[in-house]
Amino acid sequence: NFTPNAFVEEIVAEMQEKIKDEKVVLGLSGGVDSTVAAVLLNKAIGKNLYCIFVNNGLLRKNEFNNVLEQYKGMGLNVKGVDASDRFLSELAGVSDPETKRKIIGRVFIEVFDDESHLIEDVKFLAQGTIYPDVIESISVKGPSATIKSHHNVGGLPDYMKLQIVEPLRMLFKDEVRRVGATLGIDPELLGRHPFPGPGLSIRILGDITPEKVQILQDVDAVFIEGLKSHGLYDKVWQAGAILLPVNSVGVMGDERTYEKVVALRAVESTDGMTADWVHLPYEFLMKISNDIINKVKGVNRVVYDISSKPPATIEWE
Ligand code: XMP
Repeated sequence: NFTPNAFVEEIVAEMQEKIKDEKVVLGLSGGVDSTVAAVLLNKAIGKNLYCIFVNNGLLRKNEFNNVLEQYKGMGLNVKGVDASDRFLSELAGVSDPETKRKIIGRVFIEVFDDESHLIEDVKFLAQGTIYPDVIESISVKGPSATIKSHHNVGGLPDYMKLQIVEPLRMLFKDEVRRVGATLGIDPELLGRHPFPGPGLSIRILGDITPEKVQILQDVDAVFIEGLKSHGLYDKVWQAGAILLPVNSVGVMGDERTYEKVVALRAVESTDGMTADWVHLPYEFLMKISNDIINKVKGVNRVVYDISSKPPATIEWE
């Protein structure tokens, strides 16, 4: 029987014992896990926790600034690093999904490493690893090869030479949320949908350009805001939009258009391993489709993904 209060008390004492007066660096992602890990460690060691929040240019619309402000409001010692241009220029011309993931992983480590070298005498790297990540990274590492090079468990480059602390590594997602609630973290932040590390890069099929990122951010924002305002956000495990690498013909007034197609995806799941597409109300889909086409320049067609996992996956890449 899991009791969040007891967990917090125990883990805070354990972290203080282990870390003492040393410095810890932690990468915040905007997600539930890294946020809860940071707040726990902040409680344990305060300003000796140095948080770094990297903008890879592939986050949701306005996410970087909004979440950074939120982190500061929570009293975290956090530095925002906008590395969008660096990520996007390294990704230019790349279409292969696994290559995109590898580039983003590598650049993230480079940026993070540069930043952590600016902090003197760091001894520990904290990560928001949770129990399913631990299990998945064990089962995925076999010779049968990676299906998708997921979660960066153990992905620490040697040259960083830091000891790892993972305060959440024995917890399941719902337990992490309960710990977060006990710590007073905003319920809206705790209820956020999962979002992949490589961000919108794997929702832009084909090569990535700043224009495509902006189109997808705008489409995604209309969809997610719509889910929230219609009371559907919390009924969905994960949702997002995908920018397809095709143009389709449409009409606007007397003009023929030839513009982008976007797919909307919303799934129900408990752990992401299997998932069913959500039967969103037709009226909602109709409204969102109109809103997207009216508001987002360059898109003239919206489709809804009705595939479940398996055999499809949640993401398209
Ligand atoms: P799939 O597409 O494999 O996704 O059904 C399952 C869950 O994992 C997320 N996902 C990722 N998360 N790095 C991540 O951190 C990745 O490369 C990655 N690929 C997929 C996906 O959003 C879903 O929640």
